[in-house]
Amino acid sequence: MYVCLCEAVTDKQIRNVARKYQVTSLKGLRQILPVGRECGKCIRQTREILDEELALL
Ligand code: FES
Repeated sequence: MYVCLCEAVTDKQIRNVARKYQVTSLKGLRQILPVGRECGKCIRQTREILDEELALL
């Protein structure tokens, strides 16, 4: 499902990047994926997905 409609980023992309690059912060994620660069409405959900991935580490 799309999390960031402005940049067409999906939850799967976020999870894959978090796992592959061991991303631990939103800042780190945004260096790889263009999530949240426009309206910012997706930031909260992106953080939640990232937190879920971190909990699995
Ligand atoms: Fe992600 Fe707008 S929905 S920046």
